[in-house]
Amino acid sequence: MPNDQVNVKTPSPVKEQTQTDGHDQQLSGDVYYPSPDVTQQARVKDWQAIADFAAQDLRGYWAKEAEELSWFQKWDEVLDDSDKPFFKWFAGAKTNIVYNCLDRYQKTGVQNKLAMVWVGEPGDVRTYSYYALNREVNQFANVLKAMGVKKGDRVTVYMPRIPEIAIAMLACAKIGAIHSVVYGGFSVDALQGRIEDSESRVVVTADGGWMNGKIVELKKTVDDAVRRCPTVETVIVVRRTHHEVKMESGRDYWYHDLMKLPVASGKCQTEVMDANDPLYILYTSGTTGKPKAIQHVHGGYMVGIYSTLKNVFDLRDEDRWWCAADPGWVTGHSYIVYGPLLVGATSFMYEGAPTYPYPNRWWSLIEKYGITILYTAPTAIRGLMRFGESWPNRHDLSSLRLLGTVGEPINPEAWKWYHRVIGKEKCPIMDTWWQTETGMFMITPTPTVPLKPGSGTRPYFGLTAEIVDDQGNPTPTDEEGYLVLTRPWPAMLSTIYRDPERYVRQYWSKYPGKYMTGDSAKRDVDGYYWIIGRVDDVIKVSGYRLGTAEIESALVSHPAVAEAAAIGLPHEIKGQAIYSYCILRAGHSPSPELAEELRQHVGQHMGPIARPEQVTFVEKLPKTRSGKIMRRVLKARAQGLPEGDVTTLEE
Ligand code: PRX
Repeated sequence: MPNDQVNVKTPSPVKEQTQTDGHDQQLSGDVYYPSPDVTQQARVKDWQAIADFAAQDLRGYWAKEAEELSWFQKWDEVLDDSDKPFFKWFAGAKTNIVYNCLDRYQKTGVQNKLAMVWVGEPGDVRTYSYYALNREVNQFANVLKAMGVKKGDRVTVYMPRIPEIAIAMLACAKIGAIHSVVYGGFSVDALQGRIEDSESRVVVTADGGWMNGKIVELKKTVDDAVRRCPTVETVIVVRRTHHEVKMESGRDYWYHDLMKLPVASGKCQTEVMDANDPLYILYTSGTTGKPKAIQHVHGGYMVGIYSTLKNVFDLRDEDRWWCAADPGWVTGHSYIVYGPLLVGATSFMYEGAPTYPYPNRWWSLIEKYGITILYTAPTAIRGLMRFGESWPNRHDLSSLRLLGTVGEPINPEAWKWYHRVIGKEKCPIMDTWWQTETGMFMITPTPTVPLKPGSGTRPYFGLTAEIVDDQGNPTPTDEEGYLVLTRPWPAMLSTIYRDPERYVRQYWSKYPGKYMTGDSAKRDVDGYYWIIGRVDDVIKVSGYRLGTAEIESALVSHPAVAEAAAIGLPHEIKGQAIYSYCILRAGHSPSPELAEELRQHVGQHMGPIARPEQVTFVEKLPKTRSGKIMRRVLKARAQGLPEGDVTTLEE
């Protein structure tokens, strides 16, 4: 049945409906119950029954999910937890995620299905069938091999939102190389640090990408970064914008030239990987110091994202799925590149800005391409909401049947606007809480679960979350505490790349046996979880995760700055914005021009998203006696709030 007919019998908010599987009791607060249509159509009809099964038999539940995928060799054990917290899912199994994303569909009807529909910001369109995508991935995998890339080697991918980013990632995975994607919005320092840490010999990039009608000069950034990275031997450049870029002879090669070589054959053997061999690393900001390289593996990761995408977004053959994130972040890795291919879906990708050239760009894309599921971030919703309802109302959005949100807590006002104006009160909103580290959705509804605006409802099948105080004791209902996860899950990070000690220290040492998320949250009387925000030095700007340490080190790399501190403060659209405080070196004096120069400096070094909202010059920074900056105190002062416990303050 075509999707736009699925919900036609659901004219208005269905708040009155209380008949839902596993939820026959009345819930407290502002609750949105699913319509009978949604309940009838949903893949997961009896949420409670599956949750009970997975709670009783964790291994059995995940084995069942894993059996829907292909394995070169079955596992000896679903979960080997003999070396906690280094959990090994599907121990002994052999597979390759790319075999499940592409190979297994060849010579079946699926090869003729669209895997990807892509639209560039200037309006150009490209589509790939499963057949065509497989062929191009094979070709590029052969190119990488010819460049000397072997199993276990790291390849840095720094690209705009174009199909080749997915092709590069899949080609690496196919031959067992580990991709390290760096978000194309990051700049020289961030890129350089990540290339150096991963010791990549090959970088895949593009001449540029389109964003807001302008070219983002990716190749220039690569040139600046690579100049300081001795490991890099080869840079492969996709021609996207066709403007002139410098190509260094013997190091830089055009993608399209390489793909024409005889070596770039359309056939390539998929590497047999151990289920626990690394698939990729992805750098993310943590509490202190440099970003951490989160490592995910082929087997468990594949099962986790397959299961969650299939069940949470209920993907069907006729769907046109649009995850509007950037492939450079985990959301894009799991739910633009790998997840949709694992479930055999048609995925939509758009290169540019949501408001270019007008604020109706997204809505016109939904109408034109018949998007059935839209998954985005609260910051995007708030940003588009600002332009008013008339923009979406000009478009026929009736193809939509489900909506999703991720990246930061969604304020009920934005949730309700999304539900009413975009979803026309018939599309349940899947608020999915998860992290780079978790790899997959963790706290999330499925379509039949009654929703409360601002809550991701309850943990996914097989998962348990607790809210604890400083000592690790569970907090009472409705009381804020630290969010911890108490059972392993297949898509969990396997370690921090080449730093297993930091992995243990960072996630498993504060509450032994429990994974510390770094978030604070509370749980209500119905067992629904409400995420409050980060409790560490991570700032979420427009859903992007940035570390105070990285921003501060960009600031002190400016000759005028002696010391710097960065904090996140609430922002109406971005969720949080960066505020920074600088102590100047002798011989430099505060001025609005210098403040602006420092903002731009951070932008150039880290990327535009890290540019502080405000730079304030100070004589001193609040520090502990051991010299640690007390960002908590700065935050409280900036908001005129009580400073809390300051007994450790220096003076
Ligand atoms: O604070 C939580 C917030 O994003 C953090 C993870 O960021 P990152 O690793 O960049 O991954 C983002 C995309 C998965 C979490 O610790 N967060 C993510 N999703 C939500 C959220 N906060 C509230 N609600 C969400 N749905």
